[in-house]
Amino acid sequence: KKKCSLVGRWVNDLGSNMTITTVNGNGVFAGSYHTAVTATSKEIKLSPLQGSLQKSPNQKGQPTFGFTVNWSFSDSITVFTGQCFVDENGKEELRTMWLLRSHVDRIKDDWKATRVGINVFTRLQSQE
Ligand code: BTN
Repeated sequence: KKKCSLVGRWVNDLGSNMTITTVNGNGVFAGSYHTAVTATSKEIKLSPLQGSLQKSPNQKGQPTFGFTVNWSFSDSITVFTGQCFVDENGKEELRTMWLLRSHVDRIKDDWKATRVGINVFTRLQSQE
């Protein structure tokens, strides 16, 4: 069965684009993220991401991973965690959950500072 590789260009169900450029031998990876949406009123800009991929021998080519996007245009941070799956036809899918932490000015507003959701990423058609 085909193994899932994170390297390449991905698009999610919101239309956000992600490029993972490097994965090193320890599973540390980096790339960039262009979100289609924002919780702010700022102009969206390309933002860096850094992550870590599980490389244990028992994962049968469908590794778990996590990454952080440090938004360059806002004062928030998003962490994603998920797993790369490969179906019978060799099509890869990243099933993720995320937490978006927004900045608040006072501790009293902490309760409303974190959003949660899911995103499904597929490889960009143009480079399959
Ligand atoms: C912000 O609004 O402060 C930064 C952009 C946040 C975009 C979020 S992260 C989770 C979700 N998935 C996406 O692709 N975009 C939104």
